[in-house]
Amino acid sequence: MCNVHSLPATEVDSGAFEARLINALNESGLMLLTAIGHRTGLFETLAGRPPLTSQQLADAAGLDERYVREWLGGMVVGGVIDTDPSAGTYQLPDAHADLLTDRGPANLAIYAQFISLLGNVEDDVVRCFREGGGVPYSRYPRFQEVMASDSGQTVLPALFDAILPLAPSLIERLEAGIRVLDCACGRGRALLAMARRFPASRFTGYDLSEQAIAWARDQARAAGLDNLAFEVRDLSDFDVTATPGAFDLVTTFDGIHDQARPRRLLKGIHRSLAPDGVYLVQDIHASSHHHLDRDHPLGTMLYAVSVSHCMTVSLAQGGEGLGTMWGRERALAYLEEAGFRDIRVHQLEHDIQNDYFVCRP
Ligand SMILES: C[S@@+](CC[C@H](N)C(=O)[O-])C[C@H]1O[C@@H](n2cnc3c(N)ncnc32)[C@H](O)[C@@H]1O
Repeated sequence: MCNVHSLPATEVDSGAFEARLINALNESGLMLLTAIGHRTGLFETLAGRPPLTSQQLADAAGLDERYVREWLGGMVVGGVIDTDPSAGTYQLPDAHADLLTDRGPANLAIYAQFISLLGNVEDDVVRCFREGGGVPYSRYPRFQEVMASDSGQTVLPALFDAILPLAPSLIERLEAGIRVLDCACGRGRALLAMARRFPASRFTGYDLSEQAIAWARDQARAAGLDNLAFEVRDLSDFDVTATPGAFDLVTTFDGIHDQARPRRLLKGIHRSLAPDGVYLVQDIHASSHHHLDRDHPLGTMLYAVSVSHCMTVSLAQGGEGLGTMWGRERALAYLEEAGFRDIRVHQLEHDIQNDYFVCRP
């Protein structure tokens, strides 16, 4: 049997390629509409309801009927929403509602927001292609919000049952009381959850983003958590600024690949760990060789995320521009270079996007 992957791209049937591009165009449109459906609450309003007219739906969601009707057109044509043309009604099938709202195990509409978030900076990215440099975080006003929703699905639901148990006896140590640091913590939702669950442990979160840290502090205050502190901190020189042996557990959740200086951060993490400490890393599942990622379920999307976010925000800080798809081989090399000797790699069933590394000094 012919393996299409071994052929040069130009030999692939051009008719099939044209059909694929047209399909991609359609599916991109569907993602834009999906992000709008998520942000306006249309999917949540439709979920579990009997068929509604566009006016009933607009009223229930508090939205303008003309926009809702046009959106419904795209959702019907895109095969997401059913319609009864004689009654003029629309219904979201339960099986679709489970994937587009918070009812099911994963709300895929959350990820659709990355398409518009990245499209928003296209002019800046095109300028960088011509002139070099990068696009700063300030050009992504919704990034921290969307990222926290993303990790709210890949990290939070699996944190206590799948992620922390990757390191043997870690849960018991957290229950007994240890010092924990989350680097590049963003809005700090993983720390907030751990601080609630393990009152005897002390938790610290560092991130560059003032807005994300302010949000995290507000949440910690509102929850009355006094075992949790957040600090705005640039981790680019963590290799020299980290306090030696200050933590028993360090975590990074998608926190390495878009750093300005990922190698210096990893060296700092190694330095900040106690001799019996653990570094738990979640980062993008990929090979470091792009030709090996043709079957990656999200590979193209993640390269788009890299060009229009992760790589460019690092370059904007004068950084390495490592990129989202730095891959397992390079991750292992960087971890070893940082001084880690015992490194185990895992994949978790709920998370097709990430690898999990358990590292000891
Ligand atoms: C992909 S986000 C992950 C956020 C969070 N861990 C989560 O899972 O939701 C990467 C984070 O790295 C932070 N970051 C980027 N460069 C940084 C730097 N030089 N120092 C500290 N944090 C940085 C960003 O502000 C962002 O919050």
